[in-house]
Amino acid sequence: DLKIGTAVAGGGHHETQAYPDPFTYDQEYRQSLAAEFNSVSPENQLKWEFVHPERNTYRFAEMDAIVEFAQQNKQVVRGHTLFWHSQNPAWLEEGDFSKDELRAILKDHIQTVVGRYAGKIQQWDVANEIFNGDGTLRTTDNIWIRELGPEIIADAFRWTHEADPKAKLFFNDYGVEGVNAKSNAYLRLIPELQAQGVPVDGFAIQGHLSTRYGFPGDLRANLQRFDDLGLETAITEIDVRMDVAPGTAPTAAQLQKQAGYYQRALEACVSVDECNSFTIWGFTDKYSWVPVFFAGEGEATVMWNDFTRKPAYDALQVTL
Ligand code: XIL
Repeated sequence: DLKIGTAVAGGGHHETQAYPDPFTYDQEYRQSLAAEFNSVSPENQLKWEFVHPERNTYRFAEMDAIVEFAQQNKQVVRGHTLFWHSQNPAWLEEGDFSKDELRAILKDHIQTVVGRYAGKIQQWDVANEIFNGDGTLRTTDNIWIRELGPEIIADAFRWTHEADPKAKLFFNDYGVEGVNAKSNAYLRLIPELQAQGVPVDGFAIQGHLSTRYGFPGDLRANLQRFDDLGLETAITEIDVRMDVAPGTAPTAAQLQKQAGYYQRALEACVSVDECNSFTIWGFTDKYSWVPVFFAGEGEATVMWNDFTRKPAYDALQVTL
């Protein structure tokens, strides 16, 4: 049973500061979110800077509302994320902590956040983006790896598993669609960890694609080699950005190309046994992160600003 998911916009960060939290205030948005998906992922609401803004303060209201919405609409929830180099609060990144303190901070965060949603969040992106493009660990910008060494990755998975033994635990990264140095690094690391008894269930590919580049034709083969190790796989954040000058609409040819990328990605997942989850990183261009982060690119989702369907939406329906 393949789950089809989306990121839930909101979290008051970057682009979402420009308008009121869509999940809370945009009724049209909520209707599509309920009707079109059976999996949801918080776009920002579980990131450290949002959920843990001060050392002794957790902010759960927004995530609680998403979990409640998901339960009402019979959706599963993907937790994102516990261990990352980005979107960490200043108190953490700039704090002066001993190794023991940092370890305790991570453990407490995982126990508190994962424990709160035990049984309600079915999959966790425990570790996000731990490798550089060349397949080396992020030893400089990831605070945990830098300060505590690579062994802390295993601890993060163990603590998450202890806090919710039923949840499926994933590594998640971008730039790992194809067979390359970074995806090879995961292919090596995950069995190593499993051999040590570390509870890792799967490997997730974000899938932030651009029509500037060719479709990663080895996506299926790459998913398959993780499947062959007995792992679950997932596409967790797909979007397909296009070159669009501000104020101009994409051409029909661009839209077809975009639709083809979405469809091929879904087909790749569908054709791999334990690829069980396909999540788009936002479903409407109205709230997409893409134009904020990629100058000159945009229109990366499957619905226009007014929630009408783009060719990419219909292309996904063909495969579903
Ligand atoms: C992005 C969000 O979409 C933005 O709202 C936020 O400002 C920055 O982060 N990889 C990830 C996601 O794992 O968490 C990122 O989400 C996109 C890239």
